[in-house]
Amino acid sequence: MKNKLIIPHRIVTVDPNNTILLNHAVEIVDGKIERIVPLKDENISEYDGEILNYQNYTLIPGFIQTHIHLCQTLFRGFADDLELFDWLQKKIFPYENSHTKNSLRASVRLGLNDLITGGTTTFLDMGTLRHQEIIFEELISSGLRAFAGNCMMDRNELYPEFCETTDWNLKSTYDWAKSFHDSNNGKVKFGFAPRFVLSCSEKLLIETKEMTKDFPGSLFHTHSSENKAEVETVRKMTGKENVEYFDSIGILYSHTVLAHCIHLNDKEVKTLKKNSVRVAHCPSSNLKLGSGIANVPHYIKEGISVSLGADGAPCNNSLSAFNEMRHAALIQKPIHGPTAMDALTVFRLATIEGAKALHIENEVGSIETGKKADLVLLDLEKADQPLQLDNDNVYSSIVYSASKENVKVVMIDGELVMDDGRCLMFDEDELIKNGKKELNQLIKRC
Ligand code: GUN
Ligand code: FE
Repeated sequence: MKNKLIIPHRIVTVDPNNTILLNHAVEIVDGKIERIVPLKDENISEYDGEILNYQNYTLIPGFIQTHIHLCQTLFRGFADDLELFDWLQKKIFPYENSHTKNSLRASVRLGLNDLITGGTTTFLDMGTLRHQEIIFEELISSGLRAFAGNCMMDRNELYPEFCETTDWNLKSTYDWAKSFHDSNNGKVKFGFAPRFVLSCSEKLLIETKEMTKDFPGSLFHTHSSENKAEVETVRKMTGKENVEYFDSIGILYSHTVLAHCIHLNDKEVKTLKKNSVRVAHCPSSNLKLGSGIANVPHYIKEGISVSLGADGAPCNNSLSAFNEMRHAALIQKPIHGPTAMDALTVFRLATIEGAKALHIENEVGSIETGKKADLVLLDLEKADQPLQLDNDNVYSSIVYSASKENVKVVMIDGELVMDDGRCLMFDEDELIKNGKKELNQLIKRC
């Protein structure tokens, strides 16, 4: 790969000092940030490499989302205005159960296109029960950085046909982890993904946790404490609160990523902290399913890792990190006051805190020398943005005013996946045409 010199208008580094640079260039060598240099020190006309001149754009680290369901993208707009159990029982479980390899591929591609065009460069996906190899194949060919794993289910009272035996779950998971953990030059890693207590036996949860030991750098990803009826059912089944139950069977550790964590008591919050558990906060999904509002300002004050995720397209209905940032900020203000969840704090949740949640903060999440060049360029010189940007309101511009429409360029490991506001990895017309065909066939199968 040729060396590249990116010349943006502004660099929002998200380094430990939240440095913002003007009149600087970023050099990329072998997919990594080699140097960040003042333009006055650089003899650009003699630069031996490719010059990427983006002098009107703001350079930011790619967004990192820590809870996504690519397999559900096809169902966007087909499961609206329901609470979690109805949403799963009447819609999502029958749909996911009806996936073929082709419909799954169509769903994953639509999701990847949506993530790339919204500036997300790394994410943690929950997968689906069957055909998980399709998700890995698509992750590898798209070039995105991701953790993913099949969504394990060995019981299902809401929709009994959508599960497989404990042994099938354990064996297929091990095989997929062996084939795909640390693949695509380390960009794709395994995230073990037992769905939630209601779809997983204790044996499945415990043996999955055991299995993670064979795959260093992998994650353990599940839903927890999302919905009041869910928490009540867990209490009836186990005699414990959801997080308390997870703690009692030994699945909480620094590589556990719990999506939602809305309905927790004080003891559970302490348990998350004690075990260095990561919370994936999904504010849009939590609002749309009417699940509740997680006490994120309190978790952050306690020093618990919090990052953001769009969840699945049918409970959001967007996969844009901009929407998650906006909602993460706004939903707390009527409760905690307008200074809570300020724009800088929220922007960090969508970047460096996401990297920390996944234990890859030495590689991505900020623009610093030695890190991988997972970078996004935003056009913020627009009539619907602040008319003069400074070091404070650049964050508010991104969190409160911007959307995926402002994303112009996206690169991963220094390779362009979006340029000129156009995704280079997929033909959108083709995705829509094929997606429609697969969706129609899938709905007939349900
Ligand atoms: N809990 C179990 N499965 C799911 C899912 O697919 N989405 C959400 N939001 N919660 C879940
Ligand atoms: Fe989810």
